[in-house]
Amino acid sequence: MDPKNVKKVGVIGLGKMGADWVANFLEAGFEVVGFDASSEMFERSKKQVAGDLMWLRKARHADDASFDVDACLAKYKIAETEDAFISELQSSQIFLEAIFEDIELKCNMLQNFTPKLPDGIVLWSNTSSLSVLTMAEACGKPGIFVGTHGMNPVHQMPAVEVVRHKKISEEALQFTVDVLKLMGKKPFVATDVSGFWVNKHLMPFMFEAYRALERGEITVADGDWGFKGSLGHPQGVFKLSDFIGMDTMYRVGMAMYLATQDPRLYPPLIVMRMIGRNELGVKTGKGFYEWDGFKIVKERDFSGLQIKDSNKMFAIKE
Ligand SMILES: NC(=O)c1ccc[n+]([C@@H]2O[C@H](COP(=O)([O-])OP(=O)(O)OC[C@H]3O[C@@H](n4cnc5c(N)ncnc54)[C@H](O)[C@@H]3O)[C@@H](O)[C@H]2O)c1
Repeated sequence: MDPKNVKKVGVIGLGKMGADWVANFLEAGFEVVGFDASSEMFERSKKQVAGDLMWLRKARHADDASFDVDACLAKYKIAETEDAFISELQSSQIFLEAIFEDIELKCNMLQNFTPKLPDGIVLWSNTSSLSVLTMAEACGKPGIFVGTHGMNPVHQMPAVEVVRHKKISEEALQFTVDVLKLMGKKPFVATDVSGFWVNKHLMPFMFEAYRALERGEITVADGDWGFKGSLGHPQGVFKLSDFIGMDTMYRVGMAMYLATQDPRLYPPLIVMRMIGRNELGVKTGKGFYEWDGFKIVKERDFSGLQIKDSNKMFAIKE
């Protein structure tokens, strides 16, 4: 396992995180082959990857005339069938999964793919909370399975949480850290507990902010400014949530609640309400804010959610 031998990476799941990872791999000079269960994501991921690369060119390669977005994009291939993907994976050195945060789905997918992967490939998972050991065991090759929790948006955030589980080989862990550093990332090693280091602390914090909004203690924009202007967070909880997606917030919160039984992690009612109305955030144009692409149009007013009079709530009609 030599990080310098990495030439090609396979990515399964081309949603928000998968596509951001693709851009980072291309930026590092790797070839990438992507696959998604939904063919809708083929074109959408290409658009997102192109946008990410343009951001990277401006932010990190402004003085580097050799960095060419089109040349990077030419190295990105989409496999339109599972067979085509498996065939491309034979010449890949890393397989990254970024499918939905669902342990059964991830384990089934890994059981299907791992026996068809070439020797020497290292498996990465972008899970944000699930047991990496469970996935490692499900794939049948626990030593080479590594949690690599990239933060949203992956191409912009330097940290990657590299999750050490009980059956990981030191070689695979070191290889992963080295490849990430080669890509310009700043990885750190975390323990395989529910939510690892970042989400273990971030999820209760975010859900507490949602509950405060439900209680009418704060508005969306003031809540975000409070964290940004006081604590230096790059964006507040509500804007971040709109980028993450309310469906993902639900999946991550529920998985962590089921793993820990910590009531703070049970998704607040507002999460279910918003999912029920397809208010998932940026991806559906409406979340805590209204969006035009990646631009905020306006904050939304959630004051209607509050129960303002407990007497009325319990009043029995005569
Ligand atoms: N969104 C975030 O902010 C964030 C941050 C860190 C980590 N993560 C983690 O990254 C992973 C992906 O999250 P996301 O936000 O990109 O989700 P997403 O919903 O944007 O994308 C997931 C993609 O996986 C595809 N998919 C689902 N099942 C599949 C299968 N069996 N085979 C192939 N493709 C399949 C879906 O079609 C979809 O395009 C999750 O594990 C999530 O917890 C998300």
